[in-house]
Amino acid sequence: MENDVTKRTPKNRADEVISALVEAIKNVIREKDVSYEEYRSALGVLNKYNGTAPYEINLVCDMFFEQAVHDQAKTHLEGSRPILKGPYFLEGAPEVTDSLKTVPGEGEPFMIRAHFEDPNGAPIEGVRVNVWHANPEGNYSGYFDDFPIEYFRGKVLTDSQGNIALKTTKPKEYPIPTKGPTGEILKAMERSEWRPAHIHFLCEKEGFRPHITQAYFADHAFVDDDVVDGVRPDVVYEIKQEGEFQAIDVNVVMNRAPVKAAIS
Ligand SMILES: [Fe+2]
Repeated sequence: MENDVTKRTPKNRADEVISALVEAIKNVIREKDVSYEEYRSALGVLNKYNGTAPYEINLVCDMFFEQAVHDQAKTHLEGSRPILKGPYFLEGAPEVTDSLKTVPGEGEPFMIRAHFEDPNGAPIEGVRVNVWHANPEGNYSGYFDDFPIEYFRGKVLTDSQGNIALKTTKPKEYPIPTKGPTGEILKAMERSEWRPAHIHFLCEKEGFRPHITQAYFADHAFVDDDVVDGVRPDVVYEIKQEGEFQAIDVNVVMNRAPVKAAIS
């Protein structure tokens, strides 16, 4: 059969991947005995993405597939597993040293400590670490008119021991946007729209692969039921009570950048 991907040689990478995807969907149709009515219903939902904000397409794809891409990358990496970036990163966060800007009197005091090392266990000085997280109500700065981006965001460099330590307030769990067709899909599946509380990191240093990750808190709401399936055991941290502060100690093993072939 001309279109049987199990029997013919793919013409190129796109042919290889897309044909395998089509075959996987055909297998679901067979295994789940999908009816014509269900097929037309699925097309109806997909058509609702026409005319929606571009983030709706990103939202549904990232929700279902992004972490799988990072998990696959991890099979080739000797350092830490990447974790999905999410939609709320913003360029232009302020340079900080020991704290993120918070709203005085609001939220629970929280300490983010993180240690960065190479695959041999040597600390890495000068890693530029972008940190961002939700406020105590589960909202991100920069996404509301009265909530400027200097809040709950910052860029910090690791010290000679490969460490950073930032005071902030504890972020809260939050739902993903559900007003569009992605929300409709979740409702049809009777799935939760919530993400567990977390802190995002984007870590950059010359000679290393840029590393994106998140830190989650053990025994907190939705850690076992993240709508975007972005929690892995290696990025769930126990919270330590230290005086008025709750604290986590994050560990990151940076992955070396691939060696570029010399130009001949
Ligand atoms: Fe987030």
